[in-house]
Amino acid sequence: MSMNAAVVRSFDHPPRYEEYDLPVPSRPDEVVAKVLAAGLHPRVRTDASGRHYTSDGVLPMVPGIDGVGVLEDGRTVYFVTPGGAMAEVALVDTKRTVSVPENVDAAKVAAAMNPAMSSWVALRRRVPFKSGQSVLIMGATGNAGGMAIQIAKLLGAGRVVGAGRNPARLAELSALGADDVVLLTDDADSTARALAQAAADVDIVIDYLWGVPSANAMTALLTARADRSKSMDWIEIGAIAGPTIELPSVALRSANLRIQGVGQGAVSPEGYKAELRSLVEEIGAGRIEVNVNEVSLAEVEETWTARPVAGKRTVFVP
Ligand SMILES: NC(=O)c1ccc[n+]([C@@H]2O[C@H](COP(=O)([O-])OP(=O)(O)OC[C@H]3O[C@@H](n4cnc5c(N)ncnc54)[C@H](OP(=O)(O)O)[C@@H]3O)[C@@H](O)[C@H]2O)c1
Repeated sequence: MSMNAAVVRSFDHPPRYEEYDLPVPSRPDEVVAKVLAAGLHPRVRTDASGRHYTSDGVLPMVPGIDGVGVLEDGRTVYFVTPGGAMAEVALVDTKRTVSVPENVDAAKVAAAMNPAMSSWVALRRRVPFKSGQSVLIMGATGNAGGMAIQIAKLLGAGRVVGAGRNPARLAELSALGADDVVLLTDDADSTARALAQAAADVDIVIDYLWGVPSANAMTALLTARADRSKSMDWIEIGAIAGPTIELPSVALRSANLRIQGVGQGAVSPEGYKAELRSLVEEIGAGRIEVNVNEVSLAEVEETWTARPVAGKRTVFVP
């Protein structure tokens, strides 16, 4: 028995739309779901190129880590799967599903859960976040960053500042709730001054960038802080600007900087599961704006290499 799927046969080539074996459940909690929508998240691209830290290097593979599908009992669910979501049928662990109400747009849920979950979990599980605290988002121009602005406000943040390198997208962020934005440029001194002016006394930093922009921002913010003993919680979520940073030891001694991360391993599967339900509710209720680029799965190969539209998540529909 076969189905249509996106199939990776080489880590150097985008997936192709092909016939592929239907997955067969092999564990007690495993069932199949008819896939309605699956998101093309940065993590999915990293997996399909064999570069993610969880990759086992085995090919062929069907990419896709999550999606929305219909189970055999007729329930529509959001699911997380290690087995490939970009296919007509996916293997789903029933312990890692959350019901999606029928009136909720499957493509919106598939687009939003991965980028939104990062800041949702960061603020609800990683820091003792209090209403009114201020938040800086590094990499606010991406899908996860745009959602982080909205989620910080939804969870009670006071001032929220978005920083990114795309001026056109930065200009759109006040509509999502940003109180201020900072343009990150190659001019390190002027960027440091702008960051210090907008966010020196911030309580929490949600960071999708890492690399040089984040290292520079840490120094800029900490040295400009009015009260250096006031805690600054830096939550590392993505490394889109570089995998490492160089951090002077003095940054940790001369200020109250606490660095931690969000991702598989930093938060338990049970912790994630507990947050999924409430996030589906927020998305379903329209409290988080989601921009979807809905594409037929048959167009996976050409879509994979096309430049993504800023602030819009591509979702494949089988
Ligand atoms: N740990 C987790 O749980 C988790 C969850 C979700 C996402 N993430 C990670 O978070 C990161 C962002 O995800 P996303 O969904 O927002 O991706 P996205 O929608 O593709 O957005 C990425 C953004 O990063 C910007 N960018 C790229 N290189 C940059 C640089 N050197 N300096 C400044 N901005 C840069 C891009 O803007 P331009 O228009 O300027 O190119 C784009 O706006 C990814 O690394 C992703 O893997 C982690």
